[in-house]
Amino acid sequence: MRELPVTILGFGMMGRARSVAYESVTRIFPDAPIKPVPYQAFVLPHEADGAKAMGWEPNLDLKDAVCNPKTEYIDICLPNAMHYAAVLLALEAGKHVFCEKPLAVSVAEAREMVAAAEARPELLNSVHFTYRRAPANVYARQLIASNRFGKLLESHNYYHQHWGGPGTGGSWRFDLKAGGGTVSDLGSHAIDMLYFTTGQRPTKLCALQHAHVKERYFNVEKTREDGSKENVRELRPVDVDDASKVVYYLENGAIGTLSCTRNAHGSENSQGYELYFESGAIRWNYDALDYLEVYDANDPQRGWTRVLCSTNGYAYEETAAAPTIGYRDELTFGCYENMRAIAKLEPIAPIATFRDAYEVDRTIEAIRLSAKEERWVKLEEIQ
Ligand SMILES: NC(=O)c1ccc[n+]([C@@H]2O[C@H](COP(=O)([O-])OP(=O)(O)OC[C@H]3O[C@@H](n4cnc5c(N)ncnc54)[C@H](O)[C@@H]3O)[C@@H](O)[C@H]2O)c1
Repeated sequence: MRELPVTILGFGMMGRARSVAYESVTRIFPDAPIKPVPYQAFVLPHEADGAKAMGWEPNLDLKDAVCNPKTEYIDICLPNAMHYAAVLLALEAGKHVFCEKPLAVSVAEAREMVAAAEARPELLNSVHFTYRRAPANVYARQLIASNRFGKLLESHNYYHQHWGGPGTGGSWRFDLKAGGGTVSDLGSHAIDMLYFTTGQRPTKLCALQHAHVKERYFNVEKTREDGSKENVRELRPVDVDDASKVVYYLENGAIGTLSCTRNAHGSENSQGYELYFESGAIRWNYDALDYLEVYDANDPQRGWTRVLCSTNGYAYEETAAAPTIGYRDELTFGCYENMRAIAKLEPIAPIATFRDAYEVDRTIEAIRLSAKEERWVKLEEIQ
């Protein structure tokens, strides 16, 4: 099996989580066409030991890590605003690129990233929309593509987490230029999920965005009079949404809603959707991610069927030692799909390309514009 040296950029929550996927992918999928092998990790100094313990050679120099001729694949787990420069550098250096979501913090940057990626069709360009890898969502996509329930009439997508209360300190996630707020963090997943399952994108939308907490304590580096540095906590105004609520029309004329928040107590990672069709309905929630719920209005029994999709021959079944999967499995499935894509094999379910992620960024920008100007926005306004 061909080995592929991987360099990971960023060793926070996601960098560490992804390390596990690289370890497990060829054990779980012996048919993987390529074996990714951890090589270097671009880290902050305090992360070096942790990266080493997980099998990576730490590197404190991002450019050196990306351009090192030994590496062939760059996995970007950096804060959102750092994706742009890292992606362009990696493509320029001729590396396959797997980038975390959202692709960029602006549509203008995302557009450039798409152009750079599409100019190098021999290289992978893939974005980590994790929940495409839940077998239940792959099944939803297949059911909808088969037109079993007729036309989609309404879609309701949501992503609710709980950790954004007033006690949570500021970070890049609460900064418009560095992270983009809840709509970028969580809304991006929900927007991609709508497209992945239904093939539909919003054409016109109206949004409200709200910050429940107007100021947060950020860690800020200050220079003392003698030139030395110190870290202080500073109360700063927050310029991003804690929650976004959107109504929209889709390309096929269907209507729908999107809700994302980081202030939903009791919702650890509650992403999901309800889709209503002419003759049935489908719903999914991450809290029971193995199952797709299906309602057939032509079935005289008139009840919801709960389909266990993580075994019984649905997608990525190779893993199913037991009929439950989790977040780590989805990361491994994503890694497997990227290896298949590099080897030019058919995907089990499509990866999100940079172009797909650019479309998500367009919707996010439309949501911001609509909320700011308090009006309906047509997606054609955002290019
Ligand atoms: N797809 C998913 O399910 C999912 C889940 C969580 C995060 N993410 C994405 O992964 C990316 C990283 O998120 P995370 O939760 O790992 O973030 P994090 O803050 O935990 O880690 C970011 C890492 O980037 C590196 N870094 C370099 N320069 C930095 C700087 N100036 N400030 C901060 N970090 C710097 C560090 O190694 C740091 O640990 C983001 O794009 C995020 O949206 C995706």
